[in-house]
Amino acid sequence: MPKTAFIARLLPEPGVEPLIDAGILIDQWERSTAPTRNELVAHLADKDALLCMLTERIDAEVMDAAPSLKVIANLAVGFDNIDLEAAEERKIVVTNTPDVLTEATADLTFALLLGAARRLCEGEHLVRSGQWTGWAPNQLLGQSVWGSVLGIIGAGRIGTAVARRGRGFGMTIKYFSRSGNPAFEAEFDAERIGLDELLEVSDFVSLHTPLTADTHRMIGAHALERMKSTAVLVNTARGRLVDELALIDALRSGSIAAAALDVFEDEPLLAPGLSELSNVVLTPHIGSATAEARGAMVRICCDNIIAVLSGRPAHTPVRR
Ligand code: DGY
Repeated sequence: MPKTAFIARLLPEPGVEPLIDAGILIDQWERSTAPTRNELVAHLADKDALLCMLTERIDAEVMDAAPSLKVIANLAVGFDNIDLEAAEERKIVVTNTPDVLTEATADLTFALLLGAARRLCEGEHLVRSGQWTGWAPNQLLGQSVWGSVLGIIGAGRIGTAVARRGRGFGMTIKYFSRSGNPAFEAEFDAERIGLDELLEVSDFVSLHTPLTADTHRMIGAHALERMKSTAVLVNTARGRLVDELALIDALRSGSIAAAALDVFEDEPLLAPGLSELSNVVLTPHIGSATAEARGAMVRICCDNIIAVLSGRPAHTPVRR
């Protein structure tokens, strides 16, 4: 019997070609919007593999509706959308796409950091709207990036790539991570400090930690109060690391200077009031959105599905 896979979205190159070449029968969701939960379950019922996005919540109920399922290949490095315990109990392999999106995501993090610091979107709007009346000494004064302190929360792959960019901008690197990272400290002359201290001393705070029960809303009112009034918060990791309503209060009251967000608590919805603030830069979860990174992510998903359905170990399995 040929193996079967449900592909939950249209994909960039190489698309599903590697799976077809491997003789796997494909059922692909042809719309650019996500299937509903019922549609997902219906398509998955008789499949051996699932290639899904971070927008699909894959829990025990979904897995139980797919008795033949052997592998879930998530097109993302984060996997908080998948119940790993339920997968392990059902002997379903879960895979992600590490490494290949690291530099793309770090590039976007830095673009957001610079954009928020130097009020790029406000300036762009001023020029584009025809309201710019000419150079003025007080116009759109922002925060200096060169020589400032960059506080990184989570010193994994992406946090490391962001620190490398920070050093290129003459920044001093501080970091918070539950387990220390001696290689990170050595490469960037970085100091590991407690979360409260990091929030107090950093000019820029950038989040690069996975979303777990422990990190959920780790940046709430208490954390925001500790930050400098000139500080900028950058989030390209997961929206639920930040309490969006508390952030709106902090941005409104000026208790922090600005924020730059690529991810949101309840995507694609924004907390009420967020989009009205001029001191926040907003992008639609595009951290890994380069043709090169997304193509490599698709390739890893396909390779993982082919490996597992051929009885071989996955290339990039995730574990609890
Ligand atoms: C991820 O990979 O987890 C990103 O959020 C999407 O590329």
